[in-house]
Amino acid sequence: MVRIPVDETKPADTKMPNVFLENEPTVLELEPEPGFVETPQIKNITERAIAYLKAGFPVHFSGPAGTGKTTLALHLARQLGQPCVLLFGDEELGTSDLIGGEFGVRRRKLVDNFIHSVLKTEEDVRSLWVDSRVTSACKNGFTLVYDEFNRSRPEANNVLLSVLEERMLTLPMARQEDDYLQVHPNFKAIFTSNPEEYAGVHKTQDALRDRMVTIDLDFFDRETEIAITKLRGSVSEQEARKIVDVIRALRRSGKCRYTPTIRACIIIAKVTKLRGAKVKAGDKVFREVCMDVLTSQTNQMGEYQERKRKAVPVIQDLIRRYC
Ligand SMILES: Nc1ncnc2c1ncn2[C@@H]1O[C@H](COP(=O)(O)OP(=O)(O)OP(=O)(O)O)[C@@H](O)[C@H]1O
Ligand SMILES: [Mg+2]
Repeated sequence: MVRIPVDETKPADTKMPNVFLENEPTVLELEPEPGFVETPQIKNITERAIAYLKAGFPVHFSGPAGTGKTTLALHLARQLGQPCVLLFGDEELGTSDLIGGEFGVRRRKLVDNFIHSVLKTEEDVRSLWVDSRVTSACKNGFTLVYDEFNRSRPEANNVLLSVLEERMLTLPMARQEDDYLQVHPNFKAIFTSNPEEYAGVHKTQDALRDRMVTIDLDFFDRETEIAITKLRGSVSEQEARKIVDVIRALRRSGKCRYTPTIRACIIIAKVTKLRGAKVKAGDKVFREVCMDVLTSQTNQMGEYQERKRKAVPVIQDLIRRYC
């Protein structure tokens, strides 16, 4: 592929992907991640997923917010040890954002002044096809990580049906190269999605879902939550255990409007530590951090003040019990 000099490339469309000055989308060489926690639960999921991917089947992690879908998808992509392209689902995405489109123009000007008394100029302007991430991954045998793919409209994702089943990508004639692209044998695809009741997501097409192996994720087990809180929140195991137990009890209490996730554990741990406080019921700062992070998650309707009034005793009680 030719790199187009910047001054010769002009946007043909205002809705440009961030790749318009180059012919290839950004490809990631993922470094090993030191902050990744691998407990038996995570190891088990990873091993199952890797086996499906190596056997040639796309893997799809589905689950509520904060259940580790994106982290796991990127971890798997690292394990596969090949370049990776990342795509985030979005209502605004169209097929061209996945496969590519005519995102620029190439201007060529020929000035012929060979005989000094004769000046001949010739100019032609051609649209310039730019491959997007799916095409690039299919062509070169990269791993495609498509995070929250059900935020994109189903019709934008239709192009993936033949990629996953017939391993063939159909491209418009405008691309000028092959309009049928045979998918590279190393191509692998990992998808994540949030449940259909979440705002802003579309129902996954049955046909697409049928072509993937879906692994349903739920909140991590206690051991994994403690290990993640300890590592990501930079606290001791004992402190991590106390925070995790408060969050897990709050989840079980049935008073949650938004179920608190591992993110709440990490925030509480990190900020408590940063503020030089102790993970103890008697520590005013720790209690304050817990209140800030957790009161918005409880299930009380009505005005903010009223919600807070009802949530505070529940959280206080849990802090007293576990910390
Ligand atoms: N195995 C792990 N090791 C270390 N940290 C992890 C691990 N899994 C998840 N986390 C941390 O937990 C948090 C939530 O994980 P992640 O963002 O992957 O969840 P998600 O399911 O993709 O959430 P959402 O649906 O909101 O995008 C992140 O801060 C992430 O760093
Ligand atoms: Mg995510």
